[in-house]
Amino acid sequence: ESAPAVIVAIDGPSGTGKSSTSKAVAARLGLSYLDTGAQYRAITWWMVTNGVDVTDPSEIAAVAGKPDIVSGTDPAGPTITVDGVDVAGPIRTQEVTAKVSAVSAVPEVRARITELQRSIAADARTGIVVEGRDIGTTVLPDADLKIFLTASPEARAARRSGELKNADVDATREALIKRDAADSSRKTSPLAKADDAVEVDTTDLTLAQVVECVVGLVEEKRAAK
Ligand code: DC
Repeated sequence: ESAPAVIVAIDGPSGTGKSSTSKAVAARLGLSYLDTGAQYRAITWWMVTNGVDVTDPSEIAAVAGKPDIVSGTDPAGPTITVDGVDVAGPIRTQEVTAKVSAVSAVPEVRARITELQRSIAADARTGIVVEGRDIGTTVLPDADLKIFLTASPEARAARRSGELKNADVDATREALIKRDAADSSRKTSPLAKADDAVEVDTTDLTLAQVVECVVGLVEEKRAAK
């Protein structure tokens, strides 16, 4: 008899180690992995590529259903395509990063992507780790375990600029604070900690320590199921 599928939601602002933690936890436990930020980046990339004016929410809403976004959920090699095109690289450009908050604030975009996320989670055989901003609050409110990762702005900016091989930590910190403020203050499912989420402050923890902590929490939940 196989174990029941386990659903893990990992939310938090950027630079808290969400992606690294989520992938490592999923790999350790044999679960699927979904990067929901990559989906919002992919729809933003499509808007930019197709000349949509991303300062106009009604223009975004009108075409939100058009792009076909497909996520590969193997934590050892997650993939993302839009209309069959591999966009793993292009979704990380500064242009997409600067525009993703505006696009992901549009309710029609969120409805579309949320539906996609729920169907991917429902199809995951052994279970899935889903990382994002509104997973525990909106997308998967019945998740078995909800984690909310935090870290000081200094730690987050240092990690992000390391990832981007960008020497300018100050500019990275400013951009990151601006994006978090936009993501936290939007009307439709903002970045927020669910009431029943476990908050983990990663400022003074190594990735390995955060992974140990989350794996332990998942195993407790699995044992109790
Ligand atoms: O995790 P990330 O930096 O790749 O996410 C990119 C943007 O997508 C982020 O600024 C906010 C948005 N996002 C969202 O609104 N909801 C999610 N569940 C995930 C990301």
